[in-house]
Amino acid sequence: MLLAIESSCDETSAAVLHNSQVLSNIISSQVFHTDYGGVIPELASRAHVQSISAVVKAAIQEAQIETKDLTAIAVTTEPGLIGSLLVGANFAKGLALRLGVPCVPVHHIEGHLYSGCLEDSTVEFPFIALVVSGGHTSLFEVQSYNSYSILGMTKDDAAGEAFDKVAKLLGLGYPGGPLVDKLAQSGNPAAYTFPRSMMHDGTYNFSFSGLKTSVRYFLQKTFPESIPENLLPDICASVQAAITEVLVAKTIRAAVEKNVRMVVIAGGVSANSGLRKLMNSTAAKHRIRMVAPRMSFCMDNAAMIGFLAEKKLHDNPGGFSRLDFKVHSAAMRAMRK
Ligand code: KG4
Ligand code: ZN
Repeated sequence: MLLAIESSCDETSAAVLHNSQVLSNIISSQVFHTDYGGVIPELASRAHVQSISAVVKAAIQEAQIETKDLTAIAVTTEPGLIGSLLVGANFAKGLALRLGVPCVPVHHIEGHLYSGCLEDSTVEFPFIALVVSGGHTSLFEVQSYNSYSILGMTKDDAAGEAFDKVAKLLGLGYPGGPLVDKLAQSGNPAAYTFPRSMMHDGTYNFSFSGLKTSVRYFLQKTFPESIPENLLPDICASVQAAITEVLVAKTIRAAVEKNVRMVVIAGGVSANSGLRKLMNSTAAKHRIRMVAPRMSFCMDNAAMIGFLAEKKLHDNPGGFSRLDFKVHSAAMRAMRK
């Protein structure tokens, strides 16, 4: 029985797993950041300190086990906000020390990377994985639980960041992704044309900062006074199309060029309904299978951390007894090339 803890950004999450089965996956989102239009790191760490005991307790209760039943702990150690990571890591170390069980450090993006396998046990290697969140937009070719390569990544903003920044320009709340998604559902994606950066450059890299600038100029020029509310759905649908078309084109091209028959999308942005629909239909055209994890496995969650930790423990049963591991903030620092 393994308890996993995730606290890398603004979600405090704890999950209990046994043999790849998720017995509980509690996610507490720090909604107060909405008032500031973005995550405030200092406040995020303080909120993790406040909520982590209750979240862990709830995960243990929902799994209908007792703390003494735990045989291992897992925790996200990178990348993320350093103060937030420290709260989870210290809690995990303290619990592991008290129980005398191993503590497995897990890379957050690797957690997202295998969340398709957590969702669907029939997912087979190799697969192409698109990890799209507020902090990351990267494309991977995944060969096994301990081997993968990065095909490409964003050169500037992450896709989620693009959604959030455009939402801010449109006067919507934070995080903007879900709000843009909702409005886009009743809009026309062909109403306005926004740039599809690096779409045909032959690489697997992305760039989204130009889109935000283009939307800003478009709004200033077209609506110098204020944006008519009835046009928001069309604008959102057009922006969403610009983001998702590039993501889908590069992901499917990677699968075709690498002769891989399966793609997985993961990370917060993979909840986007337009992305799911377009990826699904484009994959089907190429006879490629697509797996998108359920919402609670897409967003930041401890279940994906625990799932990968169980694999690591399986590969190294006597390992992870040391509690002197560090946390790291920098994205991609420890990712294998
Ligand atoms: O993975 P995640 O929960 O946190 C990290 O960034 O690691 O992702 C959050 C991001 C935010 O930028 C949010 O706006 C975006 O995912 N997001 C969405 C949707 N739901 C969340 N973007 C587009 N459409 C959505 N439905
Ligand atoms: Zn994430």
